[in-house]
Amino acid sequence: MSQLKTSSFLIALVSGLLLALPVSAEIDPEAVFKENDCHKCHHATKAKKGPSLAKISTRYKEKNLDEKEAIKHMTSGNKVKLEDGSEEKHKIIETKDTAVQMAVAKWILNR
Ligand code: HEC
Repeated sequence: MSQLKTSSFLIALVSGLLLALPVSAEIDPEAVFKENDCHKCHHATKAKKGPSLAKISTRYKEKNLDEKEAIKHMTSGNKVKLEDGSEEKHKIIETKDTAVQMAVAKWILNR
């Protein structure tokens, strides 16, 4: 009897873990964006130190650029001109996980 209890406990535990896994593996691009301080320069619709996400996304559509270009930009640290005219190296996204980079790029370009 107690063995039955133990095994049903184990089954419950394992299925609980299986249910929990996909949730913790899900990527939240907006959270990544904030953790990397991207939001300090990029607002959804208003220009801050950098162009708004809406502006970036519109320009990418006009120029037929895709996520690959956005990922190149957020991983290479190119020099950029801020709204106030000063120049600095663009922030490099901390993660090296290309799936996360892709999710952030998609999220930006769908603004
Ligand atoms: C210190 C301010 C600043 C921070 C922080 C910042 N950016 Fe930018 N970003 C800029 C500026 C300025 C530009 C415009 C560059 C240009 O047009 O020359 C830009 C442009 C971009 C572009 C458009 C690139 C292109 O090809 O025109 C993307 C995408 C982008 N940023 C993503 C991000 C992401 C993702 C982060 C966080 C990891 C981030 N930015 C953090 C200032 C910033």
